[in-house]
Order: sequence, then C-alpha cells, then structure tokens
Amino acid sequence: MAGGTSGTAPRPPRDPEHTITPAAGDAVTLRGVTKAFPLAEGRMLQALAVEHLAVPVASRTVVRGRSGSGKTTLLNLIAGVSTPTGGSIVVGGTEITALPEPARDRFRAAQIGYVFQAFNLLPAFSALENVMLAMTFARVVPRGRQRARARELLGRLGLGARLAHKPAQLSRGEQQRVAIARALANDPPLILADEPCASLDAETAREVLAVFLEVCRQEARTLLIVSHDDAVLAEGDRLLDMAELNAPAGGA
Ligand SMILES: Nc1ncnc2c1ncn2[C@@H]1O[C@H](COP(=O)(O)OP(=O)(O)OP(=O)(O)O)[C@@H](O)[C@H]1O
Ligand SMILES: [Mg+2]
Repeated sequence: MAGGTSGTAPRPPRDPEHTITPAAGDAVTLRGVTKAFPLAEGRMLQALAVEHLAVPVASRTVVRGRSGSGKTTLLNLIAGVSTPTGGSIVVGGTEITALPEPARDRFRAAQIGYVFQAFNLLPAFSALENVMLAMTFARVVPRGRQRARARELLGRLGLGARLAHKPAQLSRGEQQRVAIARALANDPPLILADEPCASLDAETAREVLAVFLEVCRQEARTLLIVSHDDAVLAEGDRLLDMAELNAPAGGA
C-alpha cells in the first residue's frame, strides 16, 4: 500500500499471561480452525474449516465468497465473538481462544473494531451515544476526548446532522455508518468489516471507503473486509476467496 508500514505495531495486549510471540508481521493468524454449529437431533453443521490464514499487519485484505460460505462465521471467530470448535487464532500476538470471555471482551474492545453485518447498534441509545459507549468500555480514548471524537467521526461519515437519532430513526445506510464510526472510535490496530458498504449507494460507499482507507494509511492499521462490492474489492491489496479458504464450503 502507499504510505508504507513505518507506523505502529499492534498495541501490547492487556493480558500478558496469554501473550505469545506473533508470526512476524501478521495481525491475525489462524491454524486448523474449525467451527461447527449444533443442529436438531444432535447433528452438527460444519460451517468452517480453515487450515491456515495469515493477515499481514497493515494489509487491506478483502475476503469474498458466496452467501453461506462462512464469511461472518470467520469474522466472528477472529473478533472472539464466538469460539472455534478447534484450532488456534492469534490476534496481535494474543491467542484469543485461550482468553476467558470477560478478557476476550476487553481485548476486542481495545484491539479490534468490528463492523457487524447486522450493525448491532444499541436501540435505546443515539448515534452519538452508540459511538461513545464503545470508547467508555475500551478506555483507550481519554474520557474528556470521547464526545468530540464521536462527533468528529460521525461528521466525517456524513452524519453530523443525525447525532441525536436513535437507530430506529436512521436509514439502514445511516445505521451502517454509525456502526463504522463505532468500529473506528478506539483507533484499533485491527478493523474487521462485514459487508460495510452493503446498504450504501455507490457515492456514499466511496466516501465511506475513503474514511476506512485514510485510517488504515495513517496508522498502518490492518483492515480485513468481507465484501462482494467491486469498489471494495478494488481497494484491497490482498484478495481471498472463501471457496479456497474454507474447506467445507469450497468442497461442497
Ligand atoms: N448459529 C448458527 N447455527 C447454525 N448454523 C449457522 C449458524 N450461524 C451460521 N450458520 C450456518 O453457517 C454457514 C455460514 O454462515 P455465515 O453467516 O458465516 O455465511 P456468510 O458467508 O456470512 O453468508 P452471507 O453472505 O449471506 O452473510 C451457513 O450455512 C449458515 O446457515
Ligand atoms: Mg455474512
């Protein structure tokens, strides 16, 4: 990417007892990761089997794949939102599968910005509060700066006039941009985004992508995006295909 990689390494993790040496230059490493979901009558659905995946620090990696190919399952595992059935997931030098749930939640809050496919905004809170709450929980941005930072990010994403709106009072595209502002709020080393432009028109998608890329360029942040969108695919410096990455989906 333009701008090089002279910036930052991932922040030191907060749980030193779980720290291991990361593979040089990788923000995320998966080895032998599987995820199975329980179905009725004791049957299991094997949704994911990734033998090896390495996401280099400061890369803009785009993953594409058909609906149902396991993209959200993959991001949820990397974010520690769900746990794998087997295998190892190292994020910024921390084996997240070894973290107990509260530690995993704290780790995610400070180290990972995740734009969920379904946004996952808190319905009782305004756009501004949704972004601020992410900062309150992570405690990375000083308290006195949180409101201004939330305003600034929402403004950059074109939502300066919607700060007090609750999610139900926002269009889908606006909700998506609040979710993006929330993911960027703590300036995390790793940003995961699940179809971040899916609800946006082409023009807005371009503007949102520009904000993502600016963050990535300035800070040597790592971006892992799942998308079908040609505009997003064009911005990646690495393109992965779930059909090759995920053995069950690819082999099905
Ligand atoms: N909680 C669950 N219980 C059972 N099956 C699940 C669960 N979550 C996902 N699956 C199944 O796992 C597979 C992968 O789902 P996933 O949501 O990761 O797909 P995706 O690639 O993100 O699809 P899309 O592009 O439609 O968002 C699907 O076949 C889905 O039905
Ligand atoms: Mg999905």
